[in-house]
Amino acid sequence: MKGVVFTNLAEMVEENYGLATWQNILDAAQPASGGIYVATAQYDDDELVGLVVAASELLNVPVPELIRLFGHYLWTFFKKNYPKFISDHDNLFDFLVSVDSVIHIEVNKLYPNASTPDFDYNVDDRNQLIMYYRSPRKLCHLSVGLIEAAAEHFGTDMTLEHPVCMHEGSDHCELRVSMGNG
Ligand code: HEM
Repeated sequence: MKGVVFTNLAEMVEENYGLATWQNILDAAQPASGGIYVATAQYDDDELVGLVVAASELLNVPVPELIRLFGHYLWTFFKKNYPKFISDHDNLFDFLVSVDSVIHIEVNKLYPNASTPDFDYNVDDRNQLIMYYRSPRKLCHLSVGLIEAAAEHFGTDMTLEHPVCMHEGSDHCELRVSMGNG
């Protein structure tokens, strides 16, 4: 994954728990890179997993919950740094559909070799968008946090269900976004 993901994780921990806590997480995880991250450089996916597991243990927050909260943090970063990807849309449904066909394609142009997931969609019902997530990184909980933050941004009441999960042996995750059930 790109360094930008790691620099954001470090900032989230530092803002909420202080610099010493991030240092303790680095000491526990012993990342191969040494823990100095450059936004555009590439780092092993395993390194992120190691940091998240160490952070989960030190902060006593379960890994899925920590990754979901990280999704909210990343949303703020994306909104500040790539506002047009978000402001091009005036509703949650169209924004979410654009993630696979526009946003992550542009991300891959900006950051060659970026590690973005695949999303397929069921768009039959504008009140219920079904997103099928596939990625070797299995960061479905990051998607959950990002979708929750996006819904807040667009002022959309929604419920998000996750009835099928790669962490339970499936080859994909199903994320059901039901609008207007808030
Ligand atoms: C609700 C909307 C979004 C969802 C659900 C989503 C989902 C994800 C997930 C789950 C990942 C982790 C990689 C993986 O799972 O394989 C990822 C990576 C990424 N996404 Fe998105 N994303 C969203 C919006 C955006 C936006 C608005 C941007 C703005 C540019 C963006 C840029 C990126 C970048 C830079 C990466 C990291 C690539 C890398 O490390 O190589 N995403 N996205």
